[in-house]
Amino acid sequence: MSLDRLSWPLRTERLAIRPATVDDLDALGRIQNLPEVAAWLPSSPGTQDDYLLRMGRASLLPRTLAVELGPVPIGELYLHVTAGWAQREVADDARNSMAEIGWGFDPAYQGHGYASEAASELVRACFLDLGVRRITASAFADNERSLRIMERLGMRRETHGVRTSLHRSAGWVDHVVYALLADEWAGDGRPAAGGAQA
Ligand SMILES: CC(C)(COP(=O)(O)OP(=O)(O)OC[C@H]1O[C@@H](n2cnc3c(N)ncnc32)[C@H](O)[C@@H]1OP(=O)(O)O)[C@@H](O)C(=O)NCCC(=O)NCCS
Repeated sequence: MSLDRLSWPLRTERLAIRPATVDDLDALGRIQNLPEVAAWLPSSPGTQDDYLLRMGRASLLPRTLAVELGPVPIGELYLHVTAGWAQREVADDARNSMAEIGWGFDPAYQGHGYASEAASELVRACFLDLGVRRITASAFADNERSLRIMERLGMRRETHGVRTSLHRSAGWVDHVVYALLADEWAGDGRPAAGGAQA
């Protein structure tokens, strides 16, 4: 799905969120290459060229949103809108019905609620502006800071995989998937009363 349907930038009380461009890659690559950030991400810290190659190979730029505090990119959100699983006759109805989201923030700006604030606005935009019906996020089970964001967003732990994911230094570790349906979302991280369709 083209993200042109959204009116950019998305704004929160403190932040602006917009599709990342090639001009953001220096700043975002520096953050992703920090060992304490990369520890939880698919790729190990490397050079800026490694990062650019990865972004290009996996075509990740269109799924990356830059989060700015004033003029400074302090982190990124991941957004991938996909189809829900469906039987063939109803497959068209399931197109663009799900969104996978993620986040990575500069350690210098962690511990201030910025990631939760940005992710909460992304959830709102997914449900209300893009019309998706289910949002998921996943993480190593011991990534407590990331799990706390999912819980603040009101997401439900849907899967706990036991030693399903191979971490480059910790070995086979548990992995969790959280989800939130539009009719479970209250807009403020609390479960929706009565589960009315959003
Ligand atoms: C996951 C990650 C984004 C979490 O960052 P974070 O700074 O803990 O998250 P937030 O920005 O939402 O900040 C929340 C913290 O700020 C605190 N905080 C301080 N001032 C605040 C304010 N004004 N408003 C809200 N929260 C505030 C909260 O109490 C909370 O602390 P706690 O979790 O100890 O209770 C960050 O650790 C990261 O980038 N990790 C590496 C990459 C990664 O793991 N990505 C996810 C892969 S699944």
